[in-house]
Amino acid sequence: MTDSILKKLNLKSGPSGRAIAQPMDQSLVEMLYQHLTLERKASAQYFAISIWFAERDLNGFSGFFKQESFDEHEHANNFAKYLVARGQTVVLQDLTAPKQSWDSIEDVIAEAFQMEADVTTSIHQIYSVAERTGDTRTNVFLDPIIEGQTQSEDNLANILSRVKFANNQPSAILIIDGEVQPN
Ligand SMILES: [Fe+2]
Repeated sequence: MTDSILKKLNLKSGPSGRAIAQPMDQSLVEMLYQHLTLERKASAQYFAISIWFAERDLNGFSGFFKQESFDEHEHANNFAKYLVARGQTVVLQDLTAPKQSWDSIEDVIAEAFQMEADVTTSIHQIYSVAERTGDTRTNVFLDPIIEGQTQSEDNLANILSRVKFANNQPSAILIIDGEVQPN
């Protein structure tokens, strides 16, 4: 829609020039940019983890984290689409190189779990700013995402427990590797 039509109809437009029903608080937009970056970082980190397992012929773990990497990319895409839907432009920030070396499988899974917990914390922070600024649409958008985070954390906590039980015994690790399934 052109600017003049929007003006004629007395509609507001956002930074991208699209019609918007409700402007967004700038601090909320900034937090969404940062969160989108966090999802892209998580995608890159899971990709690195998938490669680490492939190098060790643990194909079950590798496939699981490859899928996790795709899922995180999809999450980043959801945040981008949401910003577009709200008439915002999307700013893609710099990414640092992911970590590629670990001492043990347990360390890898523990870090993956911590990364999911950090993503959830970021969503909680956005949630409270959305509430404070009366942006109910953002709260509704985030609700199913928070549910998904709880499932991801549960899944990784379960894998972490089993890896701990295995106590680095190759036969036990191979059994877990055969059972770990991409979501
Ligand atoms: Fe995610």
